[in-house]
Amino acid sequence: METTLAIIKPDAFLKGNVGAIIGMIEGNGFKINALKLLKLCKHEAEGFYYVHKEKPFFKDLINFMTSGPIIVMVLKKNKAIEEWRKLMGATDPKNAEKGTIRNLYGTNIEKNAVHGSDSKENALYEISYFFPKIALI
Ligand code: CMP
Repeated sequence: METTLAIIKPDAFLKGNVGAIIGMIEGNGFKINALKLLKLCKHEAEGFYYVHKEKPFFKDLINFMTSGPIIVMVLKKNKAIEEWRKLMGATDPKNAEKGTIRNLYGTNIEKNAVHGSDSKENALYEISYFFPKIALI
């Protein structure tokens, strides 16, 4: 079993898509090991996305991720990182396979509904960023 970090982003939260997305997560065999509702400040969003700090879209990404509430979750499944990325679909919703979360609920490359860790190393960083006491859960 593997764990990964998932985020339901402000666009999906504000459009009322939280229930549908969590339904897809559970319906696809993921166990939700931890979950919380947060509204990030600029400093928290910058720390989470530090790997993108030199990217041209960084400022817009931080503005968007602090624009409303988010749901952060630790998901558990066999090959959870790869499986969650498959269920999310491509980063840009216009390239996301039919039936994936970003195809159904994403708007554009910024407002793309959900986030998922892209490697084991980043999953460890991202999970401990939001759930530092996860080992106790
Ligand atoms: P996410 O999986 O959360 O990781 C970084 C985010 O940056 C990504 O999803 C996108 O929502 C956002 N982003 C905005 N612009 C771009 C871009 N041009 N290329 C890649 N990611 C982008």
